[in-house]
Amino acid sequence: MKIAMASDHAGFQMKRMLKEFLASLGHEVRDFGADSEDPVDYPDTGREAALSVAAGDSDVGILICGTGIGMSIVANKVPGIRAALCNDVVCARLTREHNDSNVLALGARVIGNETARELVGTWLSTDFVGGRHTRRVEKISAMDREFRKAL
Ligand code: RB5
Repeated sequence: MKIAMASDHAGFQMKRMLKEFLASLGHEVRDFGADSEDPVDYPDTGREAALSVAAGDSDVGILICGTGIGMSIVANKVPGIRAALCNDVVCARLTREHNDSNVLALGARVIGNETARELVGTWLSTDFVGGRHTRRVEKISAMDREFRKAL
């Protein structure tokens, strides 16, 4: 898969670790920064990775900040993005099965590297189950279209 990644300074080390992990699984990573642990604002890097997913240039995105909260807020501003902040493997699985999430947000100050790898592995290998969940996800897409016109 083509995976867009972004972090701020707080998520830089975890991004670096996950890039190696993803490469070892055969994925292609597009890195939208941060490039170091120097302070960088998460909206600046997060929006570029989210836009890459929304445009179809990347299949999915993985965004990392201190808590994952800021990155999830940023990504969910982009029409077509369904970003899920996950701290546990149950949510990582269920957000793929039920929400068809296309961005995973992680908090580098909340979870450790082993948990991060477990969440990423589960999230990437779990399919959307469709069925009744298709109707709900389509309602989210309809909101994107509605609000884009209205605002
Ligand atoms: C940066 O200090 C921190 O605010 C950021 O990484 C993130 O946790 C925001 O949601």
